[in-house]
Amino acid sequence: MRGDVTPRGAGKPAARSLVQRVDDASALHEAGAAKFASAAVQAIDARSVFRVALAGGSTPKGVYARLAEDVRWRSQVQWGKIQFFWGDERHVGPDHPDSNYRMACEVMLDRLPIDPAHVWRMKGEYEDAARAADEYERDLRSVFGLSDGQFPRFDLILLGMGADGHTASLFPGTDALRERRRLAVANHVEKLATDRLTLTVPVFNNGIDVLFLVQGPDKAEALKAVLEGPYDPERLPAQLIQPASGHLTWLVDSAAARLLSKDSRKAQSPGP
Ligand code: 6PG
Repeated sequence: MRGDVTPRGAGKPAARSLVQRVDDASALHEAGAAKFASAAVQAIDARSVFRVALAGGSTPKGVYARLAEDVRWRSQVQWGKIQFFWGDERHVGPDHPDSNYRMACEVMLDRLPIDPAHVWRMKGEYEDAARAADEYERDLRSVFGLSDGQFPRFDLILLGMGADGHTASLFPGTDALRERRRLAVANHVEKLATDRLTLTVPVFNNGIDVLFLVQGPDKAEALKAVLEGPYDPERLPAQLIQPASGHLTWLVDSAAARLLSKDSRKAQSPGP
Protein backbone atom coordinates (compact mmCIF):
# COMPACT_ATOMS: atom_id res chain seq x y z
CA MET A 1 0.00 0.00 0.00
CA ARG A 2 1.65 3.30 -1.13
CA GLY A 3 1.13 6.50 0.77
CA ASP A 4 -0.40 9.00 -1.65
CA VAL A 5 -1.59 12.53 -1.70
CA THR A 6 -3.12 15.16 0.47
CA PRO A 7 -6.40 15.86 -1.36
CA ARG A 8 -6.00 19.02 -3.53
CA GLY A 9 -8.65 21.34 -4.83
CA ALA A 10 -11.03 20.80 -1.95
CA GLY A 11 -10.81 24.53 -1.48
CA LYS A 12 -10.11 24.25 2.21
CA PRO A 13 -6.86 23.45 3.94
CA ALA A 14 -7.13 19.72 4.39
CA ALA A 15 -6.36 18.37 7.82
CA ARG A 16 -3.64 15.74 7.89
CA SER A 17 -5.05 13.56 5.14
CA LEU A 18 -3.77 10.92 2.80
CA VAL A 19 -5.00 9.02 -0.20
CA GLN A 20 -3.77 5.45 0.15
CA ARG A 21 -4.16 3.51 -3.05
CA VAL A 22 -4.35 -0.27 -3.20
CA ASP A 23 -4.72 -2.54 -6.22
CA ASP A 24 -8.18 -4.01 -5.89
CA ALA A 25 -11.14 -4.82 -3.62
CA SER A 26 -9.36 -7.65 -1.83
CA ALA A 27 -6.38 -5.43 -1.05
CA LEU A 28 -8.75 -2.74 0.18
CA HIS A 29 -10.49 -5.20 2.51
CA GLU A 30 -7.10 -6.32 3.83
CA ALA A 31 -5.84 -2.77 4.34
CA GLY A 32 -9.12 -1.69 5.94
CA ALA A 33 -9.04 -4.60 8.38
CA ALA A 34 -5.41 -3.86 9.26
CA LYS A 35 -6.26 -0.19 9.87
CA PHE A 36 -9.25 -1.13 12.06
CA ALA A 37 -7.16 -3.60 14.08
CA SER A 38 -4.29 -1.19 14.59
CA ALA A 39 -6.61 1.64 15.65
CA ALA A 40 -8.34 -0.74 18.07
CA VAL A 41 -5.08 -1.99 19.62
CA GLN A 42 -3.80 1.59 19.98
CA ALA A 43 -7.01 2.89 21.59
CA ILE A 44 -7.42 -0.07 23.94
CA ASP A 45 -3.77 0.14 25.01
CA ALA A 46 -4.21 3.84 25.73
CA ARG A 47 -7.74 4.04 27.13
CA SER A 48 -9.00 0.44 27.56
CA VAL A 49 -11.80 1.11 25.10
CA PHE A 50 -12.15 1.51 21.31
CA ARG A 51 -15.18 3.42 20.06
CA VAL A 52 -15.90 2.99 16.37
CA ALA A 53 -18.64 4.26 14.07
CA LEU A 54 -19.28 1.67 11.38
CA ALA A 55 -20.15 2.47 7.77
CA GLY A 56 -23.03 0.91 5.89
CA GLY A 57 -23.40 -0.04 2.25
CA SER A 58 -21.52 -2.82 0.49
CA THR A 59 -17.87 -1.70 0.43
CA PRO A 60 -17.18 -2.21 4.16
CA LYS A 61 -18.63 -5.75 4.10
CA GLY A 62 -15.33 -7.22 2.89
CA VAL A 63 -13.44 -5.39 5.66
CA TYR A 64 -15.86 -6.64 8.32
CA ALA A 65 -15.62 -10.19 6.94
CA ARG A 66 -11.80 -10.08 7.13
CA LEU A 67 -11.95 -8.92 10.75
CA ALA A 68 -14.30 -11.77 11.64
CA GLU A 69 -12.53 -14.50 9.69
CA ASP A 70 -8.80 -13.78 9.73
CA VAL A 71 -7.04 -15.28 12.73
CA ARG A 72 -4.60 -12.34 12.80
CA TRP A 73 -7.32 -9.80 13.58
CA ARG A 74 -9.44 -12.20 15.64
CA SER A 75 -6.52 -12.79 17.99
CA GLN A 76 -4.94 -9.32 17.89
CA VAL A 77 -8.01 -7.33 18.95
CA GLN A 78 -9.66 -7.41 22.41
CA TRP A 79 -13.14 -7.48 20.93
CA GLY A 80 -14.83 -7.22 24.36
CA LYS A 81 -13.39 -3.72 24.75
CA ILE A 82 -14.89 -2.31 21.59
CA GLN A 83 -17.99 -0.11 21.59
CA PHE A 84 -19.84 -0.18 18.27
CA PHE A 85 -21.90 2.61 16.78
CA TRP A 86 -23.10 3.44 13.27
CA GLY A 87 -22.47 6.51 11.15
CA ASP A 88 -25.89 6.16 9.58
CA GLU A 89 -28.87 3.85 9.16
CA ARG A 90 -31.73 3.38 6.80
CA HIS A 91 -35.31 3.98 7.97
CA VAL A 92 -35.89 0.26 8.44
CA GLY A 93 -35.91 -2.25 11.29
CA PRO A 94 -32.90 -4.27 12.40
CA ASP A 95 -34.02 -7.38 10.51
CA HIS A 96 -34.62 -5.61 7.22
CA PRO A 97 -32.27 -6.61 4.35
CA ASP A 98 -31.30 -2.92 3.90
CA SER A 99 -30.32 -2.43 7.55
CA ASN A 100 -26.69 -1.38 8.07
CA TYR A 101 -26.94 -2.85 11.57
CA ARG A 102 -28.11 -6.21 10.21
CA MET A 103 -25.28 -6.27 7.66
CA ALA A 104 -22.61 -5.59 10.29
CA CYS A 105 -24.08 -8.23 12.63
CA GLU A 106 -24.29 -10.93 9.97
CA VAL A 107 -20.81 -10.32 8.57
CA MET A 108 -18.93 -9.43 11.73
CA LEU A 109 -20.54 -8.83 15.12
CA ASP A 110 -22.37 -12.15 15.42
CA ARG A 111 -19.10 -13.94 14.61
CA LEU A 112 -16.83 -12.29 17.20
CA PRO A 113 -16.66 -12.32 21.04
CA ILE A 114 -18.09 -8.84 21.41
CA ASP A 115 -20.19 -7.62 24.35
CA PRO A 116 -23.76 -7.08 23.11
CA ALA A 117 -24.10 -4.35 25.74
CA HIS A 118 -21.45 -2.46 23.76
CA VAL A 119 -23.53 -2.16 20.60
CA TRP A 120 -25.64 0.95 20.02
CA ARG A 121 -27.78 0.78 16.91
CA MET A 122 -29.97 3.50 15.45
CA LYS A 123 -33.64 2.50 15.82
CA GLY A 124 -34.62 2.69 12.18
CA GLU A 125 -37.84 0.85 12.95
CA TYR A 126 -39.39 3.92 14.59
CA GLU A 127 -42.15 5.41 12.45
CA ASP A 128 -40.80 8.84 13.34
CA ALA A 129 -37.14 8.93 12.26
CA ALA A 130 -36.59 12.12 14.26
CA ARG A 131 -37.45 10.19 17.43
CA ALA A 132 -34.78 7.61 16.56
CA ALA A 133 -32.23 10.38 15.96
CA ASP A 134 -33.08 12.05 19.28
CA GLU A 135 -32.68 8.74 21.08
CA TYR A 136 -29.33 8.07 19.40
CA GLU A 137 -28.14 11.52 20.37
CA ARG A 138 -29.06 10.73 23.99
CA ASP A 139 -27.16 7.43 23.76
CA LEU A 140 -24.07 9.22 22.45
CA ARG A 141 -24.22 11.91 25.15
CA SER A 142 -24.53 9.26 27.85
CA VAL A 143 -21.84 6.85 26.59
CA PHE A 144 -19.32 9.61 25.82
CA GLY A 145 -20.28 11.61 28.94
CA LEU A 146 -20.95 14.77 26.94
CA SER A 147 -22.33 18.07 28.16
CA ASP A 148 -24.20 20.48 25.90
CA GLY A 149 -22.13 21.70 22.96
CA GLN A 150 -19.67 18.80 23.13
CA PHE A 151 -19.25 16.23 20.37
CA PRO A 152 -18.28 12.54 20.70
CA ARG A 153 -14.70 11.76 19.74
CA PHE A 154 -14.69 8.39 18.01
CA ASP A 155 -11.38 6.55 17.84
CA LEU A 156 -12.26 5.45 14.32
CA ILE A 157 -15.02 6.46 11.91
CA LEU A 158 -15.51 4.33 8.79
CA LEU A 159 -17.20 6.00 5.84
CA GLY A 160 -18.13 5.00 2.33
CA MET A 161 -18.85 7.32 -0.58
CA GLY A 162 -21.61 7.09 -3.13
CA ALA A 163 -21.13 7.72 -6.86
CA ASP A 164 -22.90 11.06 -6.24
CA GLY A 165 -20.35 12.12 -3.62
CA HIS A 166 -22.59 11.47 -0.59
CA THR A 167 -21.21 9.93 2.55
CA ALA A 168 -23.05 8.32 5.45
CA SER A 169 -26.56 9.68 4.86
CA LEU A 170 -25.33 13.16 4.01
CA PHE A 171 -26.78 13.41 0.52
CA PRO A 172 -26.39 16.32 -1.91
CA GLY A 173 -28.78 19.20 -1.25
CA THR A 174 -30.23 17.77 1.98
CA ASP A 175 -30.81 19.60 5.25
CA ALA A 176 -28.40 17.49 7.31
CA LEU A 177 -25.43 18.99 5.41
CA ARG A 178 -25.91 22.25 7.34
CA GLU A 179 -26.47 20.79 10.82
CA ARG A 180 -23.68 21.92 13.14
CA ARG A 181 -25.32 21.59 16.58
CA ARG A 182 -26.96 18.18 16.73
CA LEU A 183 -25.06 14.87 16.99
CA ALA A 184 -27.55 12.77 15.02
CA VAL A 185 -30.47 13.75 12.81
CA ALA A 186 -33.17 12.34 10.60
CA ASN A 187 -32.48 13.48 7.05
CA HIS A 188 -35.11 13.41 4.30
CA VAL A 189 -33.56 12.27 1.03
CA GLU A 190 -35.92 13.32 -1.78
CA LYS A 191 -34.16 11.30 -4.47
CA LEU A 192 -34.58 8.13 -2.45
CA ALA A 193 -38.06 9.16 -1.27
CA THR A 194 -37.11 8.19 2.26
CA ASP A 195 -35.79 9.45 5.56
CA ARG A 196 -32.37 8.36 6.71
CA LEU A 197 -30.62 8.54 10.10
CA THR A 198 -27.13 10.01 10.17
CA LEU A 199 -24.44 11.38 12.44
CA THR A 200 -23.66 14.98 11.62
CA VAL A 201 -20.67 16.75 10.10
CA PRO A 202 -19.29 18.04 13.43
CA VAL A 203 -19.34 14.49 14.81
CA PHE A 204 -17.49 13.08 11.81
CA ASN A 205 -15.00 15.96 11.95
CA ASN A 206 -14.29 15.32 15.62
CA GLY A 207 -13.02 11.80 14.90
CA ILE A 208 -9.45 10.82 15.78
CA ASP A 209 -9.16 8.63 12.67
CA VAL A 210 -11.58 8.95 9.76
CA LEU A 211 -11.24 6.29 7.09
CA PHE A 212 -13.04 6.44 3.75
CA LEU A 213 -13.34 3.11 1.93
CA VAL A 214 -13.89 3.72 -1.79
CA GLN A 215 -13.81 0.87 -4.27
CA GLY A 216 -14.76 0.34 -7.90
CA PRO A 217 -14.88 2.18 -11.23
CA ASP A 218 -18.30 3.73 -10.56
CA LYS A 219 -16.75 5.91 -7.84
CA ALA A 220 -13.93 7.31 -10.02
CA GLU A 221 -15.73 10.46 -11.20
CA ALA A 222 -16.96 11.40 -7.74
CA LEU A 223 -13.58 10.67 -6.15
CA LYS A 224 -11.82 12.94 -8.64
CA ALA A 225 -14.39 15.69 -8.06
CA VAL A 226 -14.24 15.38 -4.27
CA LEU A 227 -10.46 15.26 -3.98
CA GLU A 228 -9.37 17.46 -6.87
CA GLY A 229 -12.37 19.54 -7.91
CA PRO A 230 -13.69 22.84 -6.54
CA TYR A 231 -15.02 22.89 -3.00
CA ASP A 232 -18.76 22.39 -3.49
CA PRO A 233 -20.08 20.44 -0.49
CA GLU A 234 -23.76 20.94 -1.31
CA ARG A 235 -23.10 18.90 -4.43
CA LEU A 236 -20.27 16.74 -2.99
CA PRO A 237 -21.01 16.20 0.71
CA ALA A 238 -17.92 14.00 1.20
CA GLN A 239 -15.90 17.24 0.97
CA LEU A 240 -17.42 18.29 4.30
CA ILE A 241 -15.40 15.59 6.05
CA GLN A 242 -12.29 17.47 7.16
CA PRO A 243 -11.39 16.30 10.68
CA ALA A 244 -10.28 19.32 12.71
CA SER A 245 -7.42 17.53 14.44
CA GLY A 246 -7.85 13.93 13.35
CA HIS A 247 -6.36 11.88 10.54
CA LEU A 248 -8.33 11.55 7.31
CA THR A 249 -7.43 8.61 5.11
CA TRP A 250 -8.95 7.80 1.75
CA LEU A 251 -8.37 4.09 1.19
CA VAL A 252 -9.15 3.59 -2.47
CA ASP A 253 -8.56 0.87 -5.04
CA SER A 254 -7.05 1.51 -8.48
CA ALA A 255 -10.40 1.41 -10.24
CA ALA A 256 -11.80 4.18 -8.05
CA ALA A 257 -8.54 6.16 -8.27
CA ARG A 258 -8.09 5.86 -12.06
CA LEU A 259 -9.04 9.51 -12.79
CA LEU A 260 -6.94 11.08 -10.03
CA SER A 261 -4.13 13.30 -11.34
CA LYS A 262 -0.67 11.80 -11.34
CA ASP A 263 0.59 14.11 -8.57
CA SER A 264 -2.15 12.76 -6.39
CA ARG A 265 0.11 9.77 -6.05
CA LYS A 266 2.89 11.71 -4.36
CA ALA A 267 2.88 11.85 -0.59
CA GLN A 268 2.64 15.49 0.47
CA SER A 269 2.88 17.21 3.82
CA PRO A 270 -0.48 18.06 5.40
CA GLY A 271 -2.35 21.10 4.05
CA PRO A 272 -1.63 24.65 5.42
C1 6PG B 1 -25.25 3.60 3.43
C2 6PG B 1 -23.92 4.26 3.60
C3 6PG B 1 -23.60 5.04 2.38
C4 6PG B 1 -22.57 4.23 1.62
C5 6PG B 1 -22.36 4.75 0.23
C6 6PG B 1 -21.44 3.81 -0.56
O1 6PG B 1 -26.02 3.55 4.40
O2 6PG B 1 -25.45 3.09 2.33
O3 6PG B 1 -23.78 4.94 4.71
O4 6PG B 1 -23.06 6.32 2.64
O5 6PG B 1 -21.33 4.25 2.34
O6 6PG B 1 -23.63 4.83 -0.39
O7 6PG B 1 -22.10 2.57 -0.65
P1 6PG B 1 -21.36 1.28 -1.29
O8 6PG B 1 -20.23 0.95 -0.38
O9 6PG B 1 -22.44 0.23 -1.29
O10 6PG B 1 -20.90 1.70 -2.66
